[in-house]
Amino acid sequence: MALYSEKVMEHFRNPQNVGSMEDADGVGEVGNAACGDIMKVYLKIEDDIISDVKFETFGCGSAIASSSMATQMIKGKPLREAEQLTNQAVAEALDGLPPHKLHCSVLAQQAVRAAIRDYYESL
Ligand code: FES
Repeated sequence: MALYSEKVMEHFRNPQNVGSMEDADGVGEVGNAACGDIMKVYLKIEDDIISDVKFETFGCGSAIASSSMATQMIKGKPLREAEQLTNQAVAEALDGLPPHKLHCSVLAQQAVRAAIRDYYESL
């Protein structure tokens, strides 16, 4: 069996929502000290809905695929729903990640939550 699912490879090769956002309403940046990977998520919020989302990830392929999938999953969603996003849901949507790469999806969950928190704190 291949180490990475076709979905992971697809999102790694062609990540969605890559980039930064100058007028973001919330920005979350997190890192993993063990592997050194960094993930930054930008949110545009309109009427408590995530109208746009971008990410920049300096990290491994699984981190890039997780960011791409996580941003896709929260785009157009109400904030309350987006803050419930779990790393398990991201990993499942990617058709699984190898056990030693699950922390990459945790980074995506943390980055999304940090960006939402940043938005609430700026209100
Ligand atoms: Fe650390 Fe992927 S190896 S985020």
